[in-house]
Amino acid sequence: MTGTTPQGTAGEQAASQWVRGMFGRIAPRYDLLNHLLSFNLDKRWRARTVARVSEILDRPDARVLDLCCGTGDVLLALESRGCKPVLGSDFSHPMLVEARRKIDSRRFCSPLFEADALWLPLADASLDLITVAFGFRNLANYQRGLEEMLRVLKPGGTAAILEFSQPPNGAFRAVYGFFSTRVLPAIGGMISGSPEAYSYLPESIRKFPGAEQLAQEMRRAGFSHVGFERMTGGAVALHLGRK
Ligand SMILES: C[S@@+](CC[C@H](N)C(=O)[O-])C[C@H]1O[C@@H](n2cnc3c(N)ncnc32)[C@H](O)[C@@H]1O
Repeated sequence: MTGTTPQGTAGEQAASQWVRGMFGRIAPRYDLLNHLLSFNLDKRWRARTVARVSEILDRPDARVLDLCCGTGDVLLALESRGCKPVLGSDFSHPMLVEARRKIDSRRFCSPLFEADALWLPLADASLDLITVAFGFRNLANYQRGLEEMLRVLKPGGTAAILEFSQPPNGAFRAVYGFFSTRVLPAIGGMISGSPEAYSYLPESIRKFPGAEQLAQEMRRAGFSHVGFERMTGGAVALHLGRK
C-alpha cells in the first residue's frame, strides 16, 4: 500500500500536486457532480458515517476534525449532529472557499484551515475524532496518512474513513466497473470541464486497496478495534479504528 499515482506523475510530490490542482479546478461543480453521479447516495453514505460516530459527537468536550473536508458536506452534518464547532481541513483552497460559503449560509462557525493531511499543523493527541470522506484514497502516502491521524488523535480517539471500495460480488463489480469507467468519466468530464478528473476517479478507485486490506493496514499502522461496514453492495466502505 503506497499512495495515489495519477497517470503521468512520478513520485509523491508530483502526485500530491496533481491531486491538489485537479480538485481546485473542479471545486465549483464538485457538489453537483457528486450528487448526480452517485444518484444522491453520497448523502446516505455521509449520514451513515455521522450516525456511527454519534456517541463521540454527543460528548460536550469532543474535539473533531473533518480531514480532506472538501466543500464541507460531512463537516456540516457533523456540526448539525453535535451542535459544536468541528474543524475542517483540506489542501485545496478553492474547495475550502466552497465549504466556507456553505458554512456561512447555515450560520455555522466551523473553523477551516488549509493543510496537507500528511503534515497537519495540530498538536499530538489533540483530537477525539477524525473523519475523512473520499479523501484518503487521494493521499500520496497512505501509511503516512494513517500515522498522522494516529499522531493527532488522543489515546482512545477514533478515525472514521469513508472511501470507495471494491464490491465483493462479481456481477455487481462488473456493472459498477462499467459505470465508473465508461459512464462516469463521460458525464463528469463534460459537466466539470475537466475530463482528467473523472478519468482519475475510476482509476484511483481501481488501484485503492480493498476493504479487508485497508483494515489490515490500519491495524499495521497501530489502530485497534478496527472494523468496516460495506455500503451499496460494497461500492463504498466505512472503516473505523481506535488509537
Ligand atoms: C473527493 S473530495 C472529498 C471531499 C469531502 N470530504 C466530501 O465528502 O465530499 C477529496 C478531497 O480531499 C482533498 N485532499 C486530497 N489529498 C489531500 C491531502 N494530501 N491533504 C489535504 N487534502 C487533500 C482534496 O483537495 C479534496 O477536497
